[in-house]
Amino acid sequence: MSVVTTAGKTGESYNYAIVRQFTLMTLVWGILGMGLGVFIAAQLVWPQLNFDLPWTSFGRVRPLHTNLVIFAFGGNALFATSLYVVQRTSRVRLISDGVARFMFWGWQTVIVSLLISYPLGYTTSKEYAEMEWPIALLMTAVWIAYMWVFFGTIAKRKVSHIYVGNWFYGAFIIVTAMVHIVNHMLVPVTLMKSYPIYSGATDAMVQWWYGHSVVGFILSVGFLGMMYYFVPKQADRPIYSYRLSIVHFWAIITLYIWAGPHHLHYTALPDWAQSLGMVMSIILLAPSWGGMINGMMTLSGAWHKLRTDPILRFLVVSLAFYGMSTFEGPMMAIKTVNALSHYTDWTIGHVHAGALGWVAMISIGTLYHMIPRLWGREQMYSVALINAHFWLSTIGTVLYIASMWVNGIAQGLMWRAINEDGTLTYSFVEALEASHPGYVVRLAGGGLFAFGMLLMAYNTWRTLRTADDSVDASVATWVGVR
Ligand code: HEM
Ligand code: HEM
Repeated sequence: MSVVTTAGKTGESYNYAIVRQFTLMTLVWGILGMGLGVFIAAQLVWPQLNFDLPWTSFGRVRPLHTNLVIFAFGGNALFATSLYVVQRTSRVRLISDGVARFMFWGWQTVIVSLLISYPLGYTTSKEYAEMEWPIALLMTAVWIAYMWVFFGTIAKRKVSHIYVGNWFYGAFIIVTAMVHIVNHMLVPVTLMKSYPIYSGATDAMVQWWYGHSVVGFILSVGFLGMMYYFVPKQADRPIYSYRLSIVHFWAIITLYIWAGPHHLHYTALPDWAQSLGMVMSIILLAPSWGGMINGMMTLSGAWHKLRTDPILRFLVVSLAFYGMSTFEGPMMAIKTVNALSHYTDWTIGHVHAGALGWVAMISIGTLYHMIPRLWGREQMYSVALINAHFWLSTIGTVLYIASMWVNGIAQGLMWRAINEDGTLTYSFVEALEASHPGYVVRLAGGGLFAFGMLLMAYNTWRTLRTADDSVDASVATWVGVR
């Protein structure tokens, strides 16, 4: 594995210090966020684990899990990789080290504020936008700083071309800012309480326009930016089709923003809006698969590398899960299918096919690629541990999603089963009892996945501990290796 000579040196030409900080925080928040996922999965098996305390109840810990994995784990991974990629592909240092530092500390402050405020019960009750207005405001400030750092660096690039990965990162940054601001149009009444300016069906529509854009632009387009840089790098091949990547970009950003209403099928939302959301979601299959195929085919002529390179395996299997979840999503967006899947664990299975299989696995592969380069090492401390991590993640994801498919379809069918006299065949509690084995299997799968993250932390720690002169003194102190 080649080592980038500028990495890990003091006085390096790129600002890798900030990338290293975001990388380490990705690991820290990943472990905590997934650990909380395991905790709430356990609560669904053993409800006693709610401990009859408000701040440890499922309702308060669940949004902490979703926000930590999306904004803390996913967010830090996207910051780390986008700032790495934009410098390398623009051949220039970040436009401002100071603003980048503000971004880092501001973002960690946002996360810590969520960690404190959610268990205390402060929430707007809008999914993935539960943060109260002062935190949302700080998030906006950090995002503006991010825009300045990312686009400012592109503006002073030393190559005329803007690599396609940056287009994906750029779209993710712009659209996230837009939907965050519009969905957080709130009227504060106290320091920690506010009300949205929208009401009724309009509020729901704005919320799911936002919610789906979190899925589409943070969890998909942002991570596709990652894919376009790190898959070719790790495979040591050019991207399969640069032309397809451009078509992929324009098609996906045009379509994603319209798909939100599929979260509101059979609600008070006008029927035409629901059907529009359904149609746009079905069309989305095409660019999603175009991107997946582009990533996968980058390995043409290099498939043999999968035998020996567990990092590449992480990246390729993540693309397979991406393909699977972006096939499943359009199917679930069809109204008649959604009539069965909505409110059931099928949705949760779909979410984690994307979240664990795609988002987490591509981030993990990418981090394994970056860590030795960032700290000036030949390679990770243990390739065997990466291999073990790969199998834990893959088996964990499969157990998670398979158990949720079984549960989801069983729940959907049991809820709609009707006797000849028109009464319900099953009570809700019977469907819940039938779901219990699935919850146990999901807990096991999630536990394996989270355990893999601990192996990664250990492997990273050992990689960093082989401290040599190439480690940036400030970061070495910061992570405690000196
Ligand atoms: C160890 C791994 C994980 C476990 C055990 C886990 C477990 C859970 C559980 C039990 C729920 C609540 C389900 C329910 O309400 O019935 C949930 C929800 C959710 N999780 Fe995870 N999770 C894990 C990792 C992740 C990751 C890495 C992400 C994102 C990158 C993620 C994103 C979400 C989202 C978005 C929801 C809300 C889904 C919805 O409202 O439909 N999870 N998770
Ligand atoms: C073409 C791509 C996709 C389409 C059309 C799609 C469609 C859907 C549909 C129809 C639902 C169920 C809505 C409901 O019944 O409430 C859903 C839920 C969800 N999907 Fe996807 N999906 C796609 C890809 C993905 C990917 C790649 C992820 C990545 C993690 C993802 C994450 C989620 C989440 C988090 C939810 C749960 C939202 C909530 O209710 O809290 N989706 N998706």
